[in-house]
Amino acid sequence: MKIITNLKDLQQERQSLAKTAKSVGYVATMGYLHEGHQALMRHSKAENDITVLSIFVNPLQFGAGEDFETYPRDMERDQQIAEQEGIDIVFMPDASAMYPGDSTIKLQVTDRVDVLCGKSRPGHFDGVVTVLAKLFHLIQPDRAYFGLKDAQQVAVVQALVDDLNFPLEVVPVATVREADGLAKSSRNVYLSEQERQEAPVIQQALQQAKQLIANGENEAEKVIKHVKEFIISRTSGRIDYVEILSYPELKPVEDISERIIIAAAVFFEKARLIDNIVLEADGSRMDRF
Ligand code: PAJ
Repeated sequence: MKIITNLKDLQQERQSLAKTAKSVGYVATMGYLHEGHQALMRHSKAENDITVLSIFVNPLQFGAGEDFETYPRDMERDQQIAEQEGIDIVFMPDASAMYPGDSTIKLQVTDRVDVLCGKSRPGHFDGVVTVLAKLFHLIQPDRAYFGLKDAQQVAVVQALVDDLNFPLEVVPVATVREADGLAKSSRNVYLSEQERQEAPVIQQALQQAKQLIANGENEAEKVIKHVKEFIISRTSGRIDYVEILSYPELKPVEDISERIIIAAAVFFEKARLIDNIVLEADGSRMDRF
């Protein structure tokens, strides 16, 4: 496994890979790796000759008062996990290498961000697409793997790739969960013991929504109301949003008759947890775009 911190070294490595015409899969992360990240690595390993993993806590995508400074980090453990997973190249630049000075060009996401996390985290997705555009240029992957746990991010990244013509396929990967249904997240370490016990309620509420729809309910507002009440009555958390939207366009739906996302975000004392399910028009789970 090669560990690269320098941008020039990465570009050189990429050029030599191009000579052997090997396919490159790419997994972008902010580290503190867990089984969700590992699922992306395994998908990439299965479908590509070479897998590149990046670990970079991107300051641009954190808002004022968010957890950039305290975001959990453990580089040694991350390297062990990458090694175990058979990753070929780990790219872990520091912030001064990625952003050596004030930038002159800024990317701005203009659609798919006035809802869900984009609404509660203004500027967040601008930071995400800016760093990913740089990373896509440096790594030039054939396929890039993103978790559906962050389904809005997947929708925005697909738009980035389409709008700016990156020659790569965005591959969405199903959310990996704890045994009790809680979506795995680096931020779960922020939960108190009681909150950790309550947290699976978010997924249970989304499953109830799925069931209501399967039973014939097609009014989005009614389903949303049920999900909110279910979460409020069973957790100490405060709801940030519960929304039902078309996917990946993320437009409002009144009658449920197309591919949709049902998404929720809940504030606990120190953590804001998100979860969602994406359902095809026939009620089955989304697999690939
Ligand atoms: P991070 O939160 O580290 O997540 C990296 C990737 O792992 C994302 O594609 C995310 O959706 C996926 N992931 C996280 N938890 C998952 C789970 N439980 N199941 C499946 N996949 C999961 O997302 C980011 O970093 C950043 O925004 C990044 C894309 C790296 C840009 O900075």
